[in-house]
Amino acid sequence: MNEINDPKLQSIIATDDAYYLQAFGHRTPLCVDYGQGVYLFDTAGKRYFDMIGGIAVNVLGHAHPALTQAIALQAGKVIHCSNYFYNEPQARLAQRLGDLFGEGRVFFNNSGAEANETAIKLARGYFFKKGQPRAKIVTALQSFHGRTLATATATGQTKYSAPFAPLPEGFVYVPYNDVAALEAAVDDQTCAVMLELIQGESGVHPATLAYVDAAVAACFRTGARLIIDEIQTGVGRTGKFLASQLYGIKPHIVTLAKGLAGGVPIGVAIADQETATGFTPGDHGSTFGGNPLACAASLAVLDTLEQGHLVQKAAGLGDYFREVLTAIAEQTGLIKQIRGAGLMLGVELTLPIAADVKHRCLEQGYLIGIVGTHTLRLLPPLIIERDHIDAFATTLTAILQEATAQ
Ligand SMILES: Cc1ncc(COP(=O)(O)O)c(C=O)c1O
Repeated sequence: MNEINDPKLQSIIATDDAYYLQAFGHRTPLCVDYGQGVYLFDTAGKRYFDMIGGIAVNVLGHAHPALTQAIALQAGKVIHCSNYFYNEPQARLAQRLGDLFGEGRVFFNNSGAEANETAIKLARGYFFKKGQPRAKIVTALQSFHGRTLATATATGQTKYSAPFAPLPEGFVYVPYNDVAALEAAVDDQTCAVMLELIQGESGVHPATLAYVDAAVAACFRTGARLIIDEIQTGVGRTGKFLASQLYGIKPHIVTLAKGLAGGVPIGVAIADQETATGFTPGDHGSTFGGNPLACAASLAVLDTLEQGHLVQKAAGLGDYFREVLTAIAEQTGLIKQIRGAGLMLGVELTLPIAADVKHRCLEQGYLIGIVGTHTLRLLPPLIIERDHIDAFATTLTAILQEATAQ
């Protein structure tokens, strides 16, 4: 790590080192002060283009007036009330999401992991209520579904669960995009198949159409519920409101979180009417889930996406971004593969220089993500424009050219 000269940043890092539970270790030495549009500003006043968007959260960028006004208005009315009572933003958002899914029923949580917990419980509850309990849940290797005990276990990467054993039972893993393995794993004891359509955390790996079709067919054959984790791919990220629409499928349960309220914590599991029978009153709950503030924020996000045609634009901008990255690949010879859909992009490099590239981007005022040693991860706000992509391309090209020159 470079020497840190800013005394304010030094002091914040020292306080964090002393008091914050060291689950994140040493973070990027940047303390966010405020944001505006596609930019974040640090406590020293330096401006950064946010190409990682809070890991797919800040779909409207930062301090979007429609979102901040909706939050302020709702905060001035009521921030929270218990789920003993009805609240209008919750009912309206439930209707909106239920309709977007297609005759869906929704349950609100506060995060992606919780939404996936809801989905797992709902699928098990569905078979329990039918009097035919099923425990087995098939998930993919290299997946990521969250950090609670059940979702870390559902995650097909033991590094996230092994230290916390004993783990919940019933989870079975298959290689991603291996149709035969999936077909063999799903039987009449399978409660659910749980998948991401594009594995984000492990490097932006899309599922093949054949794999997704096989998952749908296996669930149809056995009655298992198909849970699609759209926590990262949802809310327009891939150029459709749900990535499920890209694949032309209708899962039994979809989970969303991240971008859904533009940064206000929220999660949701949306189920079809039949699967929704898995919960009866008293089976599930959440103190904060579906509170008026989060739901009002989410309604403002959905309105803004719709009014600005931002989801359709994400599809076009994603295509443009790919063209630009393809040109950089040809120019530098340093890009092996460009993966993803819409504004969810993974750029695999030919050399193990992802950390260096990220560091140089930071110096040049761009925040990007990386996966492992080779892959750059880009999840910009959906309000990004072509000019921004062009400017980033110029910077990235120069950084990669420097890398080859060394
Ligand atoms: C696909 C997917 N599922 C679940 C989660 C967990 O969401 P959260 O961190 O909000 O609990 C994430 C977070 O990165 C994710 O990408």
